Formats: sequence, C-alpha cells, structure tokens
Amino acid sequence: MLLKSCCIYSIGVFSILTLIVGISLVLSNVFPHFVQSMVKKEVVLKNGTEAFEAWENPPAPIYMQFYFFNLTNPLEVLDGERPAVVEIGPYTYREYRPMEHVNFQDNGTKVTAVNTKTYIFERNMSRGPESDLIRTVNIPAMTVMERFKNDSFMANVISSYMRGTNENLFTTRTVGELLWGYEDGLLKALRNFQPDLDDVFGLFYKNNASNDGEYVFFTGQQNYKDFAKVDTWNGESSLNWWTSDECNMINGTNGASFHPVITKNETLYMFSSDLCRSLYAMYEDDVTVKGIPGYRFSLPSNVFANITLNPANAGFCVPSGNCMGSGVLNVSPCKQGAPIIMSSPHFYQADEKFVQDVFGMRPNKEQHQTTIDINPLTGIILQAAKRLQVNVYVEKIPTFSQTGTVRTMVFPVVYLNESVIIDETSVLKLQMIVAKQNVVVNIPFMLIGLGIILGGVFMFLMCRQKVPESTAAERQPLLSS
Ligand SMILES: *[C@@H]1O[C@H](CO)[C@@H](O)[C@H](O)[C@H]1NC(C)=O
Ligand SMILES: *[C@@H]1O[C@H](CO)[C@@H](O)[C@H](O)[C@H]1NC(C)=O
Ligand SMILES: *[C@@H]1O[C@H](CO)[C@@H](O)[C@H](O)[C@H]1NC(C)=O
Ligand SMILES: *[C@@H]1O[C@H](CO)[C@@H](O)[C@H](O)[C@H]1NC(C)=O
Ligand SMILES: *[C@@H]1O[C@H](CO)[C@@H](O)[C@H](O)[C@H]1NC(C)=O
Ligand SMILES: *[C@@H]1O[C@H](CO)[C@@H](O)[C@H](O)[C@H]1NC(C)=O
Ligand SMILES: *[C@@H]1O[C@H](CO)[C@@H](O)[C@H](O)[C@H]1NC(C)=O
Repeated sequence: MLLKSCCIYSIGVFSILTLIVGISLVLSNVFPHFVQSMVKKEVVLKNGTEAFEAWENPPAPIYMQFYFFNLTNPLEVLDGERPAVVEIGPYTYREYRPMEHVNFQDNGTKVTAVNTKTYIFERNMSRGPESDLIRTVNIPAMTVMERFKNDSFMANVISSYMRGTNENLFTTRTVGELLWGYEDGLLKALRNFQPDLDDVFGLFYKNNASNDGEYVFFTGQQNYKDFAKVDTWNGESSLNWWTSDECNMINGTNGASFHPVITKNETLYMFSSDLCRSLYAMYEDDVTVKGIPGYRFSLPSNVFANITLNPANAGFCVPSGNCMGSGVLNVSPCKQGAPIIMSSPHFYQADEKFVQDVFGMRPNKEQHQTTIDINPLTGIILQAAKRLQVNVYVEKIPTFSQTGTVRTMVFPVVYLNESVIIDETSVLKLQMIVAKQNVVVNIPFMLIGLGIILGGVFMFLMCRQKVPESTAAERQPLLSS
C-alpha cells in the first residue's frame, strides 16, 4: 500500500517537472535556436561541405527554353498593318554552369571563381530541330538603319546596298542561327568602313562555353546570410548581388529570436546580365514543391513600371527622356546599340498598348511570370523560372525605304524560360532536414503533452485509491453483523 502511493506521488511530481521543463523550453526558444545554428553551420562555402559541392556543380538540371514568334504577314506590316505572330517552341537546351578556377581567399571568408555556361540542345524536349525556320525582324539591319538614320550619305549607300542584296526589314533564319549567330551580309559589308565591327549576329552569340568574368563571393563563414553573395564582379563592387541561381541575393535584416533563413518580409535580389541590372522579387505565396514547403517570390510589377510609378527606371529612358511606358525596358546601351527592348513574355504586366499592337499576344500570370520558390528553413531553391522576352524597337525611318510605312512598335522576337527544379537526391536530404526540424522544434510541446497526460494519470490513480477505502469502510459493519 505504501509502495503504491509512493509510486503515484512520483508520477505527480514527474508530471509537474515535465510541464515546467516543457514550458520553459518553449519560452526560451532553445530548440529552434539549435536547429538554426545547425543549418547555419552547413551554410558555408568550404571545401568538403555539401553546400560547396552544390554551389560548384549545381546538381539539379537547368533548362533554357526558347519560344519564337513567327511572323505571318510581313508585307501587310510594311504597309502599316499590325503584325500577326505565332508562338513556336520550345527549343530546349540543357544548361551546365559549373564554377571554375575556384580559389579560397582571406582565410576562407571569400572565394573567387568564373561561372562557365554551356548549352546542349535537347532534341527530345524541343518542338523541332535547331534548323526550323523563323521569320522575324532583321535585327542587324534594324540596328544599322537606326545607327545611320541621320547620316543621309551613309543611309543612301546602305539603303542601295540593301536593295542590291534584297535585304529587308524582315528575315527568315533558323533557330540555331538566331540564337548562336550567323554571318550577316550587311554587317560584313560595313566592315569596309568599320574594321573593328563583328560581322556575326546572334541573340546568344558568344554566350556558349564562355564566362562573363571573375566573381568574388563571400563564403558565409563570417555571416551565414552572406553565403554565396557576390562581393565584386570583374573587379567592380556589387552591393546587393548574390549568385546561387541566376545570382540571387537575400537582403537580410532580422532581429526576431527565431526566424528561418528566409522570411516573408525579405527581398530577393537577382543579378541579370540580360538586363544589365539587378532585379528583385517579393514574397507572393506559400507553395509545396515535391512535398517540401516553400515560399514563392515573384517580380512585383513595379520592377518594369514606368518612371511615374518607379522613378528608379529612369536609366532605361534612352536617349534620356525617351521613356517607353510600363512593362518594357530599353537595354540598347548594353547591347552595343542594337534597339533591344526587354519585357516579360507576351508583355505580361506591361501597358495594354504593347499587347494590342501585336496579334497573338496572350499574357498570362501562371505561364509568364518570373518566380523563385525557396525553402525558408535552409534557403535552398526548390524551383525557379526566369522568363524574359526579347523585342526589337521598330519604326519607320524616312531615309530607308526598307522600313515602308511600318508602325512604331515593340516587336516580339523570342522569349526564354530558364528553369530549374530541385533534384530527387536533394529532395530526400531536405525532407530529412525538415522532418528533423519538426521533431526537434516540437520536443518542448511533446514534453508539455507528456506532463499533462501524466497529470491525468496521477489524478485518476489518486481517485481510484480513495474509492476502495471508502467502500471498505462502508462494508465493515455489514460483515461484522
Ligand atoms: C578541395 O579539396 C580537394 C581534395 O583535398 C582538392 O583536390 C581541391 O583542389 C580542393 N579545392 C579547392 C578549391 O581548394
Ligand atoms: C588570417 O588569419 C591569421 C591568423 O588568424 C591572421 O593573422 C591574418 O591576418 C588573417 N588574414 C586575413 C587576410 O584575414
Ligand atoms: C556549346 O559548346 C559545347 C562545347 O563546346 C558544344 O558541345 C555545344 O554543341 C555548343 N552548343 C551550342 C548550342 O552551340
Ligand atoms: C515560320 O514561318 C515561315 C514563313 O511562313 C515558315 O516557312 C516556317 O516554316 C515557319 N516556321 C515554323 C517552325 O513553323
Ligand atoms: C539591402 O541591403 C543594403 C545594404 O545592406 C541596404 O543598403 C538596402 O537598403 C537594403 N535593401 C532593402 C530593400 O532592405
Ligand atoms: C505611368 O503609368 C500610369 C498608370 O498606368 C499613368 O497614369 C502614367 O501617366 C504613366 N506615366 C508615364 C510617364 O507614362
Ligand atoms: C517554361 O515556361 C513555359 C511558358 O511559360 C512553359 O510552357 C514551360 O513548361 C516552362 N518550362 C518548365 C521546364 O517549367
């Protein structure tokens, strides 16, 4: 009897202790801190760590897909009609982008490397071969005509050369030529005047098997939030750049006691060499990718907004004061003067006039926005799709009869979708981390639960112990009588 009640009281004491420990653990946040410091320790570029291996050789396949706009009515367009285009694609390339010439510096706080990108055509994931023909704007001709439009002597010479060789505002070229380059007759002829001119034109000319110079990255050794952040690029300081996918960066300022590596309030910065600038993305939604929770970040419409709405875009008004409206960026200064205008595919989030100017534009959020899905605990990219459209500024140039009476417009040529989705091996690793995190973070709550159950058991046993005593007392007289 004594042993039994001793046992019962121990349960009571143990229940109270468990409750106290559980509650104080919840209040002190020890376990979330612990999980976080484990994650932080892993997030550093150091020879031998998994993070370093994934950074040096991204394990998930990256695909670059191109969708061209085939022009169906060139003669009518020269007469001032709206162009009608048919989207043709995808033409898919597997993109390899290992870090090369990797050198650690400054006691392992920085690392230098070049990022060499190679594109291999994937016929099975493409609509047709690279020899498919596309009719679109003759970009070298448009560039040359824009360059010499106010030089009547040169304009005359070039215009009659173009008549002789039957070059027009529109041209038909293969997918391979348009992307990776072809020798252009007009550019070749112009070399007689400008020997340093390159006579090959291609939207991705010289981009294959090449790198864009030396990067210096922070390794994250001093601060995990600096992991893989770009310090300098080709010697230039680059505040706010980060590269682990297309150079994306997290601007972290967090004071809360427990926060994941990524919070919903953070702004992701991405450097895009196509746009010669860095972009930013904001939290949009919670997503699940292959069973792993993530935050979706997407480009706010403000990124491409006109200068009234976003004065920071004034730099894209070239020549200065020449602003194009929302949803399009004039990047000609960083494309050797070619009249190239970037936008989202199908002019998604752009002024309605760009969509209306071309038959065949169907902007759609799901298909045409740029998104990055990130696991908040680890900062690992689960899925990303960078979607951009290359357009050409087309206008009637009186000194060149080749332009006919064409409307002034932004003519869509091609859009690209550079995408990546986390590979299965990384999914398994991440699932383990997420599961471990869930268990560890919930330990204090489990303790509280256990305390409550034990308390219940304790009270139950106490009551039961009392009941037989009283019944025995009642029975006694019965027995003696
Ligand atoms: C990493 O370590 C391996 C093996 O010790 C070595 O071969 C390699 O050169 C190192 N890499 C760097 C970037 O230091
Ligand atoms: C590297 O560490 C050593 C020893 O801790 C220190 O003397 C040296 O100044 C450090 N070098 C740099 C570049 O930080
Ligand atoms: C890119 O370069 C690699 C290696 O030099 C080559 O195998 C591949 O075919 C090239 N891709 C294109 C699209 O030219
Ligand atoms: C694009 O249009 C041109 C001209 O009509 C045509 O010859 C070509 O086959 C079209 N391209 C594709 C891939 O359908
Ligand atoms: C990002 O960080 C930089 C430098 O730390 C700071 O100047 C800038 O204001 C931050 N931007 C945002 C949006 O937090
Ligand atoms: C920018 O867009 C807004 C809203 O569409 C419009 O009211 C404003 O006039 C535009 N500003 C310029 C400079 O085009
Ligand atoms: C890329 O985007 C295009 C159009 O937005 C879509 O059709 C395609 O499926 C996407 N590719 C991948 C691999 O997600």
